[in-house]
Amino acid sequence: MITSSGKGTSLTTIEEFRRRAKELLTEEGWLFYNAAAGQRSTFQESVAAFDRYVIRPRILRDVTHRSLSTTVLGQPISMPICVAPSAAQRFAHPDAEAASAKGTADADTLYIMSSFASSSIAEVSQIAPGGLRWMQLYLFRDRRFAENVVREAEKEGFKAIVLTVDLPLWPDFSSNESSTSRYHYDPNLRPTNLALDIPEVNEAIRSGDVNLRHYFAEQYKSPKTWDDITWLKSITSLPIVLKGILTGEAAQEAADAGVSGIIVSAHGGRYMDGIPAPLDVLSEVVSAVKGRDVEVYMDGGIRSGTDVLKALGLGARAVLIGRPALWGLACDGPAGVNKVLSILRNELDLALGISGCTNVQDIPSSLIARKSYL
Ligand SMILES: Cc1cc2nc3c(=O)[nH]c(=O)nc-3n(C[C@H](O)[C@H](O)[C@H](O)COP(=O)(O)O)c2cc1C
Repeated sequence: MITSSGKGTSLTTIEEFRRRAKELLTEEGWLFYNAAAGQRSTFQESVAAFDRYVIRPRILRDVTHRSLSTTVLGQPISMPICVAPSAAQRFAHPDAEAASAKGTADADTLYIMSSFASSSIAEVSQIAPGGLRWMQLYLFRDRRFAENVVREAEKEGFKAIVLTVDLPLWPDFSSNESSTSRYHYDPNLRPTNLALDIPEVNEAIRSGDVNLRHYFAEQYKSPKTWDDITWLKSITSLPIVLKGILTGEAAQEAADAGVSGIIVSAHGGRYMDGIPAPLDVLSEVVSAVKGRDVEVYMDGGIRSGTDVLKALGLGARAVLIGRPALWGLACDGPAGVNKVLSILRNELDLALGISGCTNVQDIPSSLIARKSYL
């Protein structure tokens, strides 16, 4: 039984959750969650991009009955707002990803679990047995990691594998003011799932690499190419979603490789500055795979219901939230995650109706315009 502290129950906006989370998290926890690369431009632009687009409301439509429900890879969810994979959630709550997964399942939407989670895959699936879950994966030199995570995710009823493809190299964090290099990784935050059955991992821990950072940095030094998608498809029949696509060309290559979904994402601006805000390249990606059997989702900078509506209007099937869910978790455990999701749900519902639309699966692209149209 996971408890909520009640510390977030009176909060009513996403911004209030952000401020309260900053007060409640340890300094290390806040630094880790808030980290962004370089001058933080991509991070800031990912949020600011939503202001570059406007909603062009339709009028005099009957909007009494509205529906937010949709599907992702054929699985029903109550709204097109899902939770992105994010690492080390024990900074925010003792029950970590299990608490997040519970809050997300209570909102009847998709939870994507990071392979750098501090809860185990089994814990996450036990806490919310009916919830829809996908498993995120990084590829290391030692393919036993991927095999173990995939096998465990399959066993625990996860419905897709999300392969993050925007980190071919381990980033150099040393010049990054508020970066992940500044926090000290508690052994409690060790990525539980990656240590399954691999003796070298225990050896690394014994020799002092308690959080496995050096081990994984070494593991990261291996090429990752489109051949790996073929390999991944050979070890699982779960659908594969690629996370971290920012161009139409990459989207086409992904479709050619036979993936089922694409997440347009800049990894929350955490690892490279100077890459685009995901919202700005969403239309390009959507056009590139039009007519192909690939669903397109996006994340980065979603902070309100109108943000969600803009992303849907530009062609996303659903959006993911990263930091806002962590703020919810830090403020009030599963109830906090659920509250953040319900704030966004209510805002989206209102924005949808006021824009003269009734169904999230049927938003005309003419509803959204770049501000320059004025
Ligand atoms: C603290 C933190 C940890 C993250 N860890 C992962 C991860 O393990 N795997 C991954 O694919 N993305 C990871 N991400 C990126 C998120 O999945 C997502 O792309 C990003 O947070 C979306 O932007 P937003 O925070 O503005 O909503 C992480 C993001 C944060 C904030």
